[in-house]
Amino acid sequence: MRKTVLITGASSGFGKLSVKRFQKEGWNVIATMRSPEKEKELGQLSNVLVTQLDVTDKNSIKDAVALGTNRFGRIDVLVNNAGYGAFGLLEEASQEEIDNQFNTNLFGVINVTQEVLPVMRRQNAGVIVNITSIGGLVGMPMLSLYSASKFAVEGLSESLSHELKKFNIKVRTVSPGSFATNFSGAHTFNEENKKPDLNEYRERIKENLVSVLKEPPKPFGLGDPQEVADVIYHCATKTKKLRTTVGKDAKTVKFMKRILSDRGLSKMLSGALLPK
Ligand SMILES: NC(=O)c1ccc[n+]([C@@H]2O[C@H](COP(=O)([O-])OP(=O)(O)OC[C@H]3O[C@@H](n4cnc5c(N)ncnc54)[C@H](OP(=O)(O)O)[C@@H]3O)[C@@H](O)[C@H]2O)c1
Repeated sequence: MRKTVLITGASSGFGKLSVKRFQKEGWNVIATMRSPEKEKELGQLSNVLVTQLDVTDKNSIKDAVALGTNRFGRIDVLVNNAGYGAFGLLEEASQEEIDNQFNTNLFGVINVTQEVLPVMRRQNAGVIVNITSIGGLVGMPMLSLYSASKFAVEGLSESLSHELKKFNIKVRTVSPGSFATNFSGAHTFNEENKKPDLNEYRERIKENLVSVLKEPPKPFGLGDPQEVADVIYHCATKTKKLRTTVGKDAKTVKFMKRILSDRGLSKMLSGALLPK
């Protein structure tokens, strides 16, 4: 029987490439996105249903899951991919920015998972792949909200991996390093919240960090997002472990985290990310 995957944030980046990878492998794909009317390519592919889903809107999630299961009968894999990076000093974050980051990156994952779980329980089978980040392994300056949301998804995933064993539902996380998607045009905080006494510090740290994120130092570089889509497919179909990192930078950070003390790791990250 042909298997079915539901993917969030399928309009671009890892999400869109994952739709194509699963489709190429012969899967039915429920490709969900906020603005499906803008998508011209995916709807042309056989066995791909392009439909509206905003992870912050529970009604849209209900509708998309109902539409997908009516069409394909089941959901074997859920890829919680939708997300973005709020960027800036925590002190300058508006309440709206804070809420949006968590509503999308954390509560969005929870909303979609809650809607899909009854389908997977009925099947007594399923795999949930949550896209976290290198920022879900280590904290980085100016990415405190993003890191907090991705650390939370790591914790959520680990807990669920135990809780869902009884129903034969597996949970996997994929933590990419820096890859060339729309993500690199990271969101910034509202202008009106900026504090004059932080101007100099903010601009120096931002300049340094933006250059590191947009053009990671050699030998890392910005990865090819196809690599992440391929890892997502692999984690959904083969991988047995909970956590997988993708990209030389993410793998290096994971290794360093394992071998260094907290103090050593902090020194390394501050040295790499803070302005001299
Ligand atoms: N690229 C990287 O270097 C990198 C590294 C680590 C982790 N990640 C993670 O990878 C995931 C995918 O990002 P990407 O790199 O592929 O970036 P991307 O090209 O910007 O894709 C992000 C996707 O999320 C969608 N999205 C945002 N808010 C949404 C919402 N409320 N409801 C539904 N969809 C929403 C966007 O939809 P719209 O088109 O409607 O905006 C877009 O389809 C994210 O979770 C991100 O945190 C990326």
